[in-house]
Amino acid sequence: MRAAVYHKYGPPGVVGVEEIATPQPKRGEVLIRVRAATVTAADWRIRSLTMPRGFGAFGRLAFGLFGPRKKVLGMAAAGEIAACGAGVSGFVVGERVLADCGTYMGAHAEFCVVKADGALAKMPDSLGFEQAAALVFGGSTALYFLRDIARIQPREQVLVNGASGETGVAFVQLAQHLGADVVGVCSAGNAGLVRGLGAARVVDYAQEDFAASAEKYDIIVDTVGNAGWPRSKEGLKDNGRLLQVLAGLPDMISAPFVSRRAGRKALTGVAKPTAADLSFLADLVVSGAFASVISQRFELADIVEAHRLVDSGHKVGSVIIRM
Ligand SMILES: NC(=O)c1ccc[n+]([C@@H]2O[C@H](COP(=O)([O-])OP(=O)(O)OC[C@H]3O[C@@H](n4cnc5c(N)ncnc54)[C@H](OP(=O)(O)O)[C@@H]3O)[C@@H](O)[C@H]2O)c1
Repeated sequence: MRAAVYHKYGPPGVVGVEEIATPQPKRGEVLIRVRAATVTAADWRIRSLTMPRGFGAFGRLAFGLFGPRKKVLGMAAAGEIAACGAGVSGFVVGERVLADCGTYMGAHAEFCVVKADGALAKMPDSLGFEQAAALVFGGSTALYFLRDIARIQPREQVLVNGASGETGVAFVQLAQHLGADVVGVCSAGNAGLVRGLGAARVVDYAQEDFAASAEKYDIIVDTVGNAGWPRSKEGLKDNGRLLQVLAGLPDMISAPFVSRRAGRKALTGVAKPTAADLSFLADLVVSGAFASVISQRFELADIVEAHRLVDSGHKVGSVIIRM
């Protein structure tokens, strides 16, 4: 099969398309014929070993000390079941599915293997492969942080810093869907998009510092990493929560201690997508309550260009790889 392979950590150019053996599903696994995948911030971090502050050493331990252990990146895939390993029930060959491949990775290839009882869900008939792949990374992150970590309530005021990125567009839409009033922070060029996704107001970070205003929020979501506790705490109401989607080790260690005054909290975590989450998000798209935002599509042969765009830190929504 054709796959985007990297043999050493580095810039986008370390990735190249090669012919490699098609993986075979073991017991409890399924083989997916990938139709669409995304290149995400996670792919950029793993490919270049650009870990959040304090996690540098953990990167090599987790992904390979002297070079990448898994040679094919890609965590989010949509496609068809091509084969089922022994003991798999609930999926049949030919079914359309979307998946978060997690640490298996491998979605930047014509075929990838995932655990059948992992974050693997059937696709509703009316959902396209690109739409499905594009909701996995951002959607499951926003769901985890808003629903499970912050326990968002209707009518809460939510500010999303980095509102036009892959996770940001999902945070804006989900918060709004769950009944919150949303303010988005992004560049002027993306203000229209973010307003269209449901933000009542958009702050252009080049013109205005949200943290310097007198406005207070129940939830501040930081997907950029520049709105940590010192900058955001005065912007939180009593019982307000700062969601540090991008958090370094110092943020994680200090979060439980910095944050008790008036019930205000700094919260960190790592999203753990489930099959139920993916089904929930897919149904939201079908119902019209959530839109997959796709800024650019690339063929597998052009994957280096896709990585370059993701590395910029200014992509809008998701970047799709078509197989
Ligand atoms: N904890 C977890 O489980 C988890 C899960 C997923 C992702 N993450 C992390 O979350 C981060 C964001 O991921 P992503 O996929 O959303 O990234 P992304 O798609 O690259 O989005 C970055 C966003 O940041 C905005 N931005 C850039 N500079 C800014 C500034 N100075 N002020 C405000 N906004 C600014 C960009 O807006 P403009 O283009 O308009 O400038 C863009 O909307 C990554 O570091 C990733 O590793 C963590």
